Amino acid sequence: MPEDQEVHRGLEGVIVAETKIGFVDGQNGRLVYRGYDIETLVNNSTYEETSYLLINGNLPDRAKLSGYLAELKTRRKVPGKVLDFIDDYAGTSHPMSDLRSALSVLGSMDKDTVMPNLEKQKSMGIDVIARTPVLVAAIKRKWEGKKIVEPSEDLGFSANFLYMSNGSKPTKEQEKVMDTCLILHADHGSNASTFSSLVTISTLSDIYSAVTSGIATLKGPLHGGANELALETIKKVGSPDNAEKVIGDMLARKEKVMGFGHRVYKVYDPRARILKEFARSITKKSGKDNLFATAEAMEKAMINKVGGKGVFPNVDFYSGMVYESLGFQDNIFTPIFAVSRASGWIARSLEYLADNRLFRPKAKYTGETGPREYIPLDKR
Ligand SMILES: CC(C)(COP(=O)(O)OP(=O)(O)OC[C@H]1O[C@@H](n2cnc3c(N)ncnc32)[C@H](O)[C@@H]1OP(=O)(O)O)[C@@H](O)C(=O)NCCC(=O)NCCS
Repeated sequence: MPEDQEVHRGLEGVIVAETKIGFVDGQNGRLVYRGYDIETLVNNSTYEETSYLLINGNLPDRAKLSGYLAELKTRRKVPGKVLDFIDDYAGTSHPMSDLRSALSVLGSMDKDTVMPNLEKQKSMGIDVIARTPVLVAAIKRKWEGKKIVEPSEDLGFSANFLYMSNGSKPTKEQEKVMDTCLILHADHGSNASTFSSLVTISTLSDIYSAVTSGIATLKGPLHGGANELALETIKKVGSPDNAEKVIGDMLARKEKVMGFGHRVYKVYDPRARILKEFARSITKKSGKDNLFATAEAMEKAMINKVGGKGVFPNVDFYSGMVYESLGFQDNIFTPIFAVSRASGWIARSLEYLADNRLFRPKAKYTGETGPREYIPLDKR
């Protein structure tokens, strides 16, 4: 057996592909999609434009954008059988399990999922981007024991998602906040869920399967689940006056404070900086100012105590209170992440397919080399 096998646990630091889609600059606190800083996209574009940019490489002109918007709208319609599936099975496990299974059911109704060409893969990808929010809204309603709402013909992506989720049209501000959250979560380097989408697509599987892999991987608390826990911690702290002491006690017990720290960002996460300002204004309007004030006091205490180690708020710290102010219960936070990240998973899967190489890493064998003697069952 060869002895020169260095093990890269978790593939940390291993470069597995080239990409032109997105870049995370952890030292300077920049997140870049196709050359555009995230702040530029949040200030000037919409989620639909950003999704088009990620998939196609450039921002759309007016004609291309209206074509893309029309496609996303017409493809919103989800077959009744998938909604029946949600009605029958959702509401007991976790909404991420419901979403993973519902998307899989949707994929099993597509007749072209065997060796699809690139064009068909892209078309499936647009179906997935258009329909994932419809599935999440239906799952949310089922968890709340409410009737599923039909998509609106005339609302944009984020407004329709809020409308289907809450049963009423959002205000312009709520629409903008939702849209911003979707732009901020659309792509983020070679993270675990993006990597699992690439592994799946590299077998020449189909986009439904690649996104289903992404959702399955995003579900875990080490990846998509931290926003739920961050909000829970802020609520436990309860008031700005408690922040200094609670944070001090948590750090003394060597506990990790959820919503802080990042494997790549060692400065303030640019997504958290943007979300913080939206959180400030939306919590004020929804009467949750105390939640924001508590979070801000926790941030101050954390930066004082561990900022020197490169620990700052990450995207999950302020997003939970924003989602709650928009009417979402905490177990829907990660499914919202999936609605947005679908664009990143699909853009990167299509990019990878264009120059495909089957993933096939190795594991270092540390078991017995044998040959062991086989002992019959009645003699063991
Ligand atoms: C995301 C995370 C796994 C990154 O970990 P990492 O890059 O391996 O960072 P490290 O664990 O090496 O942390 C470096 C130091 O900062 C401390 N630190 C990092 N994140 C911390 C946190 N959230 N709370 C308290 N201390 C933290 C570590 O204890 C370590 O201290 P030490 O050097 O005295 O041992 C980690 O910050 C974490 O668990 N955060 C909380 C969960 C979370 O919010 N996840 C969402 C990420 S988007």
